[in-house]
Amino acid sequence: MRRIAVLLVVVVMLAGVAAWIFPSSGHGAGEAAPVFVTKIPPGYRDWRLVSVAREEGELDDIRAILGNDLAIRAYREEKLPFPEGTIIARIAWSYDASEENNKTFGRAQSFVAGHPKNGVQFMVKDSKKYAATGGWGYAHFNDGKPAETAVLTTCFPCHQAIKDRDYIFTRYAP
Ligand code: HEC
Repeated sequence: MRRIAVLLVVVVMLAGVAAWIFPSSGHGAGEAAPVFVTKIPPGYRDWRLVSVAREEGELDDIRAILGNDLAIRAYREEKLPFPEGTIIARIAWSYDASEENNKTFGRAQSFVAGHPKNGVQFMVKDSKKYAATGGWGYAHFNDGKPAETAVLTTCFPCHQAIKDRDYIFTRYAP
């Protein structure tokens, strides 16, 4: 009886150790499921500007790329890969002709940012958590709500094109 009790204790302990070593590894080795960012990083609208871009086609917007302090420092020091904790944001607006500005200039030449468009996107650096997607967690929010997984699975395959620059397309605009 005593032996069985000891054996039980040992079995329970081993199970505990196993759970600690292999935390909820529900998928096969080497096939880690991608993890996405589901919360909007606070304060991102106050971050500093990395650069701007204009997209035609379906996107048809004008956009700004912003970085948190870690991002801006790495950009300015030209350090790659970006350090853990780096977050890069992409915000965008409709690309609107400005009648008001054109009137002042005396001819049609002015375009400005209109209403917010194409959601807000983020890339969050955490090499462990987001190991399956190059160390970056991808996020897309429409009106504050996270996009569907189907949308988020498109991010990494395309950003892989710029693996040499740590998956970040935008260069720092001095
Ligand atoms: C078809 C290719 C493609 C897909 C898909 C794509 N991106 Fe990008 N992304 C780009 C390119 C090119 C840029 C740089 C030009 C720009 O900002 O428009 C960029 C810029 C960014 C930036 C600014 C940092 C950088 O790399 O320049 C972030 C953040 C970003 N994308 C996040 C995302 C997220 C999140 C998704 C998925 C919801 C996504 N991207 C899907 C091509 C892509």
